[in-house]
Amino acid sequence: MERRDFLLYGIRAGTFITIPVLYSSCSKDDDDEENLTEPALPVTLDLDSAQYSLLNNDGHAVTISNNILVVNLGGMEFVALSAVCTHQGCIISYNHAAGNFPCPCHGSVFSPTGSVLQGPATVAVKRFPVTREGNILTIGN
Ligand code: FES
Repeated sequence: MERRDFLLYGIRAGTFITIPVLYSSCSKDDDDEENLTEPALPVTLDLDSAQYSLLNNDGHAVTISNNILVVNLGGMEFVALSAVCTHQGCIISYNHAAGNFPCPCHGSVFSPTGSVLQGPATVAVKRFPVTREGNILTIGN
């Protein structure tokens, strides 16, 4: 095999190897809910503990294990949302002044119900049920 033929063979082989790799890296698996894993639930939080006592105050938010964001809305209502943005997996936060949940990566914004207020995300973040007995919050039961 001459050098020219060898180089052409290498380019053709590289093309056949590269195209499937590029195609799979741009597949739908890169976004939305398919890459997200379900957290282990239920989780209980003691509002008397130093770790979670801030949740007794309106507007305070805590991200607990499993990437669940727990927020005290209005003093007595608690909301628990998956903190993982459904666009590409960045961690959302709570904006108390705006009353919503922005993502720092590409600008998606979610409501307290988890619905998308602003894209590029197109899928709501999961909202988990929260119950309170005394000072114990139970999330996801
Ligand atoms: Fe949240 Fe892109 S990862 S908007």
